[in-house]
This record gives sequence, C-alpha cells and structure tokens, in this order.
Amino acid sequence: LQLLSVTAEMFPFVKTGGLGDVAASLPTALRHHGVRTRTILPGYPSVLSALTTKTQAYVFHDMLGYRATVWEGTAHGHHLYVIDVPELYDRSGGPYLGPDGRDWADNDMRFAVLSRVAACIAQGCLGQWCPDVVMTHDWQAGLVSAYLRYDERPAPPVAHVIHNMAFQGLFPREILSRIGLPEHAFAVDGVEFYGKIGYLKAGLQIANRLITVSPTYAEEIQTAENGMGLEGLLSSRAADLHGILNGIDLHDWNSLTDPAVIFPYAIGDIAGRRANKRVFQAEFGLPQDPNAMLLGIVSRLTRQKGVDILAEIAPRLFKTNIQLAVVGVGDADIMQSFRALQLAYPRNLVCHLRYDELLGHRLHSAVDASLIPSRFEPCGLTQLHALRYGSVPIAARVGGLTDTIVDANTAAIEEGVANGILFAPTQGDALYRAIKHGKKLFKQKSVWARLQRNGSLHDVSWHGKAAHYARLLMEMAGRAPVRAL
Ligand code: ADP
Ligand code: GLC
Repeated sequence: LQLLSVTAEMFPFVKTGGLGDVAASLPTALRHHGVRTRTILPGYPSVLSALTTKTQAYVFHDMLGYRATVWEGTAHGHHLYVIDVPELYDRSGGPYLGPDGRDWADNDMRFAVLSRVAACIAQGCLGQWCPDVVMTHDWQAGLVSAYLRYDERPAPPVAHVIHNMAFQGLFPREILSRIGLPEHAFAVDGVEFYGKIGYLKAGLQIANRLITVSPTYAEEIQTAENGMGLEGLLSSRAADLHGILNGIDLHDWNSLTDPAVIFPYAIGDIAGRRANKRVFQAEFGLPQDPNAMLLGIVSRLTRQKGVDILAEIAPRLFKTNIQLAVVGVGDADIMQSFRALQLAYPRNLVCHLRYDELLGHRLHSAVDASLIPSRFEPCGLTQLHALRYGSVPIAARVGGLTDTIVDANTAAIEEGVANGILFAPTQGDALYRAIKHGKKLFKQKSVWARLQRNGSLHDVSWHGKAAHYARLLMEMAGRAPVRAL
C-alpha cells in the first residue's frame, strides 16, 4: 500500500514535540506491515538541506499565489516531497512561531499551501506516483480533506490523525478565496467553525477516518471538558474514530547504543544505571548523593504539561532530600519561575531551559523518576522514554498516560505489575502526594527496582500499534492486510 503522509514536523529535520517523532517513526514501523510511505513537508531550510538526493518533481507556477517547487528526495531513510516556497518557509525561527514567540502572521497560507500541494499529489498530479491512502497530521494538514472534497475529482481516502486538539488552526472567513476554497465550503458540514475557518475542524469533519493517539484520549475528546468545542462533531463520528497508542523507535531508544547515555547499560539492567545517576548529578552540579531521590522532566514548558503546578509545589518538595533536573523550553512566565527557583534552591534544582535532544535522552537514563504532571495528554512519549530507560514515571491520570502506566497501588505492587505512579486531579496537592508516595517506595529498594524493571519490559514499541494502523489503512484502500514480516 502506498501512503502519502502530510505533516508540518518530522524528526530529525524539524521537531517541536511528539508529532515530529511520530511522523518519522510511524512510517518506518509501517514498512514491516506492507505500507510504503512518502512524506510531504514544508521546505524549511533544515528540511531542504537534509535531502541527500534531490530531483525536481513538479513546479506549480501559481500555487495559491506562490511559485512552488516540489523536490523529491531521500533523507535519513525517508522518501520525501519537500515544498520549496522561499517566501513562506525560508526563515529562521520555529515552524509555527517567529523569534518573538508569536505565531507567524502567514501561518494560514503556509499550511494551506502544504495541504493544497498534498491534495494535488493525492489527485495524481505527479503522474508516475499516486497514493492509495492519505494520512494527514494535526491542524496543519487538516485542509487536505477539504481540497479533495470540493475539487470533486477522484481522490484516495484520507485518515486524519489527531495529536493534539488544543491547536486548531482558526482563521478569519475572509481568507476563504485566498486559500482556494469555494464559498459553499464555508458551512457547518465543511470548514466553518463558529464563524471562522477551522483547519482542524475541516479534517475532523471531512476525512474518511479519524485516528487519535490513545484509546483514552479518543474517549476524552468526545466530552465537553476535553473536546475543545469539537466534542459534538467527534461524538457524531465516533464510529470512524480510532484510538491507537504511539510507539517509540527502539533503535533510537536503546541505552546500550545511545550516544547520549554515558555508561551504556542493557535495557532492564537496573544496577547498570547507577553510574549514570552519579555522573548526571555531577554534570548538573547537584550533590552526588545516591540516596537523594532524583526527579527529571523533559518537556515543553506550557500549561498543557502542568509544569506550573510543579513550580508551585517545588519549595515544599525541596524541604526534603529531593533533586530535580529540568530540560525544557516554552512559556516565558513558566521559564522565569524555574529560573527563580533555581536561584533559591541551587542544591535541589538545575534547569536547562532549552531544547536539547541529547540531554532529553541522557536524563531518562539517569534519574530515578520522570515527572509528567499534564493537564491533558493525547498520548505522551516522555513516559515511554522513561519506562524504556528504567526511570519510574510519576504522571497525571489523563489521556495516554493512563493507557501506558500501571499505578503502583498496593494491589498492583503485590501482583508485581506496577510500573509507575498515577495521580489525579492535576493539582499541587495531588502531585505532592504522588511524589511523597514515590519517595516512600524509592526507599524500599526492591519494590522500586521492580517498578523500574516492569517499566523497561513494558512494550513501548510500534509493533502492535503499526499493525493496527496498517489494518485500518488497508481496509480504507479496500485491500487485505499484509502479514507482518
Ligand atoms: P508533546 O508532543 O505534547 O510535546 P510528547 O511527550 O508526545 O509531548 O513528545 C515530546 C517530545 O519532545 C519527546 O520526544 C521529548 O523528549 C521531546 N522534548 C520536549 N521538550 C524537549 C527539550 N526541551 N529538549 C529535548 N527534547 C524535548
Ligand atoms: C502531541 C501530544 C502528545 C503526543 C504527541 C504525538 O503533541 O501533546 O501527547 O504524544 O502529539 O502524538
């Protein structure tokens, strides 16, 4: 089966969060299930320069008012189509935000062009290659479904993957003709959302199938609390909505070969991690005390991640022998509160307030527990990284965290199945109690080691999940699934 994946991020070329990881690791995993993926991306400088082979696949002289060259090539084993429109993508800054931290003013056009070009490829403009199914990721690719519907030319079915409902791509209705959609598309059963144009809404409304990244999130987004205004639409499409957990790439996350891990250890070798904690404490300038419980966090520092709550209870935590290492970047006020805490508690807290892939890996190989106090979490990859590397996740009982962590309550400990600690609600007291509970277990060395071992044995791979995706895609294309190799 030939799949066209449409995404605004893909690791290692461009990544702000888990979408980038999944857009790269899912195609690799799908290969073992008879699905060949080609991915289309905006031509950010980092993407264009990563292409090792490069041929001109197509030139659009007027793509929504821009001249767009589509380059076809390979990079890091992926087959890519890259849309080169310098006015839209050739700038320094993030994929969504400028250096001033605000959305790029032309994000409407940047992602309309991505979606329109993808739709043309889906309709066969390249001639020699046409996908059997299209997969669109998040709001940035939501319009693909709309272009295919309103063009009324034959087109393959679309599966829209929801990684995060909080980002919806809402723009004023006045841009409708600029983005190349007809007047009648501005309707409740089209792209209209409360008087605006909703790029995510379009995908949710029109795509043939909807997939989100955990079974629990698939339920949550059908409720007013988490549906962000789209719960009604999602409930009406419940029969087409699938919750499939994310996996991680086990080659990237192998503590024996990972260059970020200072003292390599086999997955599950809990004793082998000790030396890593010691050097990590030294590297981070924390007291090298094996009995201090070392907590870590690798995260976007935003409200979604509940890190503001952690900052709130930090002074209480630091009254005891607890250390915290933070690797993260995000909202200015949250970063400021961590800076202030670090000044006040230099023996307990060290922050690296930047994006650092290497430290993000190293941290999970060294810390005793990884904190994920999210207010909502569609899937979450951080807890999968923590589990795999033998750090015990202490996480909010929401979304995919619920589906991947088995809470260390008395029964689960007795049964020997626990691998982490879950708490609810996402509030300071509950988080504080969860960490205190964790500390009690941490002191019982054999109980803690069992949690760590269970975590490292937990299946965080793509195997079963990619098979699920493949079955669904094959069904959409009207084919029998291929057996995994
Ligand atoms: P989200 O996509 O909501 O940010 P996920 O847990 O799904 O959350 O994925 C986040 C990804 O980004 C993980 O691979 C995580 O390790 C990585 N990450 C987040 N912040 C940083 C950072 N400051 N430095 C390095 N890696 C980070
Ligand atoms: C989103 C979600 C996160 C998920 C990731 C990849 O950014 O916030 O929970 O793991 O996408 O699907």
